[in-house]
Amino acid sequence: MSPRNHAYFLAGAGDEQTSAVNESAFRQAHVTPRMLRDLRGGTPETTVLGQKLAAPFLIAPFAYHRLLHQPGETATARGAEAQSIKMVLSAQSSEPLDEVRAVGPGSDWFQLHWMGSRQATLELAQMALAAGFTTFVLTIDAPVQGVRDREIEAGFRLPPDVSAVNLAKFASPSFSPRDDAQSVIFDHVAQILPTWADVAWLIETFQAPVLLKGILHPEDAAQAQRIGAAGIIVSNHGGRVLDRASATLSALPPIVERLGPGYPVLMDGGIRRGVDILIALALGAKAVLIGRPIACGLAVAGDLGVSHVLRLLSDEFEIAMLLSGCATVQDIRRDLVYLKL
Ligand code: FNR
Repeated sequence: MSPRNHAYFLAGAGDEQTSAVNESAFRQAHVTPRMLRDLRGGTPETTVLGQKLAAPFLIAPFAYHRLLHQPGETATARGAEAQSIKMVLSAQSSEPLDEVRAVGPGSDWFQLHWMGSRQATLELAQMALAAGFTTFVLTIDAPVQGVRDREIEAGFRLPPDVSAVNLAKFASPSFSPRDDAQSVIFDHVAQILPTWADVAWLIETFQAPVLLKGILHPEDAAQAQRIGAAGIIVSNHGGRVLDRASATLSALPPIVERLGPGYPVLMDGGIRRGVDILIALALGAKAVLIGRPIACGLAVAGDLGVSHVLRLLSDEFEIAMLLSGCATVQDIRRDLVYLKL
């Protein structure tokens, strides 16, 4: 990666404390493996929202794959397809959503940003539905961009040939606090930000399942469940928005406890090894999403790089299951992991 891309893809917000604790929280978790169980017929497969997954992880939605490789999202989708893993396509994809959908039959999840109004957000969702996406993720934790010092210091700018092509027809609701030193940020953005009532409207109006991504507080998780979200993703955007936000792994157990065992709770942030997936599942996640390691694979070797990273993670996860005495993901229980926080 160029130094600028490196700063864009790998940096967190502020002092990068949240992006760091996302990773270090996994090192505070200790697995107490079980021995001598019958593992015949074991499998890493699982079912989330009625959909079969080859392993309990997906590629997290992240923006502008063409910064890293040409082609961008279509290469990532091919890499995902090769390993039967789903990619969640970002609203800020740098390639047309129907082209990405066409090369990735298995990747049918689409991530939505709030587009400034109910109608515009619904319009984007319907565009993606018409292209064959079936499952939707509304990201709610980045109403404004975080203050990413490393990226600013590196002088990161999108080159003219890379843009969020699927959002071209929508007015950009984004606003960066550094754009205007005199500004009162609330005045610029508060009136176009969604509230629970807007999101409840979207979930009720739109005909496909919508998960909410970016929840850390158990009360928000309960609210998401109440308004009919198909599931939630415990996430802090990889530490790219609010620095000092808690590690997602620490946020997960109280949320799972609040919502009960049946509700689909997914999580992301800081997953770097197959055993991290096992730890997240033991603490109650039904599946996880993985961001930066995929970006690195794409940067190094395009679709092959993505496929390779996914293979490594799948193999490591399967080995972690075997070594912990878990034949199926249902065997990955809470008492397998001790979390020292
Ligand atoms: C993101 N993420 C993100 N999330 C989202 O909902 N829409 C988006 O467009 C983006 N864009 C984006 C760009 C980059 C460069 C990164 C690193 C991340 C957040 C992403 O979905 C996910 O929450 C985190 O990346 C997970 O953390 P790890 O796996 O990167 O530690």
